[in-house]
Amino acid sequence: MGRSLCCQDSVDSTNNLAKQLAKQNAPHGLLIISEEQTGGKGRIGRGWASPKSKGLWLSVLLRPNLLPQDAPKSTLLAAVAVCQAVNTVAGVQAKIKWPNDILLNGKKLVGILSEMGAEYGKLNYVVIGIGLNTNAERQDFPTDVQDIAISLHQAATKEFSRDEVLAEILWQMEKLVEEAETKGFASILEQWRKMNCTTGNKVKVIAQDETYLGKALDIDETGMLIVERENGVIDKVVAGDVSIRYANDSN
Ligand code: BTN
Repeated sequence: MGRSLCCQDSVDSTNNLAKQLAKQNAPHGLLIISEEQTGGKGRIGRGWASPKSKGLWLSVLLRPNLLPQDAPKSTLLAAVAVCQAVNTVAGVQAKIKWPNDILLNGKKLVGILSEMGAEYGKLNYVVIGIGLNTNAERQDFPTDVQDIAISLHQAATKEFSRDEVLAEILWQMEKLVEEAETKGFASILEQWRKMNCTTGNKVKVIAQDETYLGKALDIDETGMLIVERENGVIDKVVAGDVSIRYANDSN
């Protein structure tokens, strides 16, 4: 991971550039990183504030040997890699909130946006976009997220070397990709389960056509969240469609 490298001072979105390069045959493991993004993208059509030099705004291009329907496995793997990397470098106890937010002290430290290029039955590439708030202060975040976002600097009150955090993320990703190829994906799922803070909790599922309360039980082998509704019906929730809140959260 990162053995091919594209460093930018400013781009609209590292994911957009990664997809463009993917279509021009860029290799598996290509890293695209930018000091700032002018049109950073978040999940479900949201934006992602990416102020200059205050965080790691990057995309990794993967060409996994998976079917299109199994592409979410790459996102779970990335979440495990990033969470592990942050905890190792910063000595903190960050957790994964399904599907792929990394929370520290209950606030959002990292967002991951995966996009894929596929044809019927064939996955061409997956772009894993990672936004990690390393050295941002409260005023660097948009006002609407100032109370729910956090940076490593805010949590540990010291500056973090973005190079060191980045190197650890790439190392962890490389290790987990190899592990998934040799041992199968079950071992990645096991690590995800240990690092997550969603299963076992009451959640509010906000889908396009309905919002409901339930209990998050587990994830299945493709990464779908298994939720027991209050009426006892068991649902499987797909990451692309919904937003999850903890049931007692006001936001
Ligand atoms: C989310 O939590 O909504 C996902 C945020 C993902 C942000 C990253 S920053 C690098 C990459 N490029 C983008 O435009 N988005 C992702």
